[in-house]
Amino acid sequence: MIEYRTVRVALLGAGSVGSQVARLLLANGDELAARVGAKLELAGIAVRNIDAERDVDLPRELLTTDAESLIVGADIVIELMGGIEPARGYILSALNSGADVITGNKALLAAHGPELFAQAEQVGAEIYYEAAVAAAIPIIRPLRDSLAGDNIHRILAIVNGSTNFILDRMDRFGDSMESAQKTAFELGFLEADPTLDVGGYDAAQKATILASLAFHSSVDPDGVYREGIDEITAEQIDAARKAGYVIKLLAITERITAEDGTEGVSARVYPALVSREHPLAAVHGGNNAVFVEAEAAGPLMFYGAGAGGVQTASAVLGDLVSAARRHVAGG
Ligand code: HSE
Repeated sequence: MIEYRTVRVALLGAGSVGSQVARLLLANGDELAARVGAKLELAGIAVRNIDAERDVDLPRELLTTDAESLIVGADIVIELMGGIEPARGYILSALNSGADVITGNKALLAAHGPELFAQAEQVGAEIYYEAAVAAAIPIIRPLRDSLAGDNIHRILAIVNGSTNFILDRMDRFGDSMESAQKTAFELGFLEADPTLDVGGYDAAQKATILASLAFHSSVDPDGVYREGIDEITAEQIDAARKAGYVIKLLAITERITAEDGTEGVSARVYPALVSREHPLAAVHGGNNAVFVEAEAAGPLMFYGAGAGGVQTASAVLGDLVSAARRHVAGG
């Protein structure tokens, strides 16, 4: 039997994504160890309430409310708590204690990404965040690495699964906005505060992240134009259908040149008319798709599950394997 060295992993948060990450890590530990060349030891799971009901039964001895102590002893910290604080403070503590960080926290990255990335660079750590945009769909690495040598002209993306689900129900099944929202909520697609989805805030956070990656510049989240789907009516959807279009909540980002010649990046989110001939029109239900137009590569579409605990956990575990390999290579 191979004797592996140990990489200590701290998990912050055991909600729908965090509990699936813990389950998969515990269940598939041997396979992941073989892929990484090190044992990934789940050192603990920081939660607010140890006795809270969870989707998955987690070993009680791993649960703790003392996140700071857990962070100090970890080689890799996975932050899946959501929200700005205390997540921001924990990530800074992790970086400062020499750990690499994995996060799915789109709100935090959209608002404080430049600060966190600067700190990571200063201490020689990495932040991985494949789960922050479009859940299971690999899009962060393709933009950051695979397409880094190309020039991206524009991205058109469906990055919010619940609003896509709602608009799709209205378009294909004739549901009212109210009943489509109710179904989306029952299926667990909508955020705890549905305004984040329906108002386009979640998509705007993801647009900020995509824009800064695609155009290699920091993008001010307050400069992202945002319009939600709350005003969309069944009549508008019908009229669009008759004219050969479907209404989709799109996140669009592209380079722009202002009248005075200065170059910038535009990022905007709004319900847009999409031709039924366009591949994005065929993105149904809670799925996401990111349509990238690049100079040399041409059009590319990344498509799949954009929400869901276990699907998002897949992206987190991919980041964990990358971070652990880096840790092993670094000695
Ligand atoms: N509420 C989000 C969505 C979950 O509907 O896409 C995934 O970020």
